[in-house]
Amino acid sequence: MNFEQKLEVKVKETERIIKEYLPQCCSEETCWAKTVIEAMNYSVNVGGKRLRPILMSETYRLFGGIDNVVEPFMAAIEMIHTYSLVHDDLPAMDNDLYRRGKKTTWSVYGEAMAILAGDGLLNYAFETALKSFALPGGDTDRKASALSILAQKAGIYGMIGGQTADIEAENLKEEVTQEQLLFIHAHKTAALIQAAMMVGAILAGADDVQIKLVEKAAYEIGIAFQIQDDILDVTSTLETLGKPVGSDEKNQKTTYVTLRGIAEASQEQKEMSDHAVELLRSLEEKGIQNEFLMELICSLITRVK
Ligand code: IPE
Ligand code: IPE
Ligand code: MG
Ligand code: MG
Ligand code: MG
Repeated sequence: MNFEQKLEVKVKETERIIKEYLPQCCSEETCWAKTVIEAMNYSVNVGGKRLRPILMSETYRLFGGIDNVVEPFMAAIEMIHTYSLVHDDLPAMDNDLYRRGKKTTWSVYGEAMAILAGDGLLNYAFETALKSFALPGGDTDRKASALSILAQKAGIYGMIGGQTADIEAENLKEEVTQEQLLFIHAHKTAALIQAAMMVGAILAGADDVQIKLVEKAAYEIGIAFQIQDDILDVTSTLETLGKPVGSDEKNQKTTYVTLRGIAEASQEQKEMSDHAVELLRSLEEKGIQNEFLMELICSLITRVK
């Protein structure tokens, strides 16, 4: 199998795991919470690359993990990521109508229900990750530490903090600096990529030095990923991307493209991605290696969606 075929298999398997952990839609008439559950399922099932859960399971494998204890965490990170998108698309934030090739959650279910579906996914992510404690494999301390990383990287010192800085940077009188933009990208995007890979490493039993190395590599992968997202917002189409292009310009966002131009932004993301691969390759002398993970990381810099 070539890389694309392997990736397709992994996406399918990941979707099976995510589906298994999503809350069941209830059909009884007296289930007055059913709309939020429906909106949660819509938001997750509508598609997406499933990059974060795949990065998690591949990093878990990299460090020799073989149990299904990683599965609830894989579902959890996709729920957190999806909630961040549902809220990101709201009129009060980026005000976008398409996501993953379909109408955004708020434009189907209304704003109030999209806010609640996002809240629901965030909370249910932790309900889901906690299910790992009932599964064999990995000790309890490691599961607790994985949970703690997931919580921190999704929170005010992670993704939520980055989204805060992103929104406030829209209305600044003075120009957004490179340093500010790096903070935004590092938090709104790299933090969840770090969570994905660190959780995988922690659950598989990586030591502290290895976990730090993974955190550093994932930081660079995450920034590179957001730079490519900024580029695609200018160069792609709604059909290919599954979400509107020109969203950044519409919201007067400063991005790597507005700050540095496409060519330089492109060069920069490639350098960061190469450095991340180099860092992870340094583990090979200890026999720690996963070729698929390396290929996956390299594929991100030329992705078209
Ligand atoms: C979109 O993430 C938001 C960013 C952090 C750039 P993805 O590009 O991973 O979105 P999906 O999950 O494939 O829809
Ligand atoms: C959002 O960045 C990152 C999140 C934490 C959701 P963007 O606003 O650039 O993501 P897209 O382009 O809407 O997917
Ligand atoms: Mg945004
Ligand atoms: Mg957006
Ligand atoms: Mg974007």
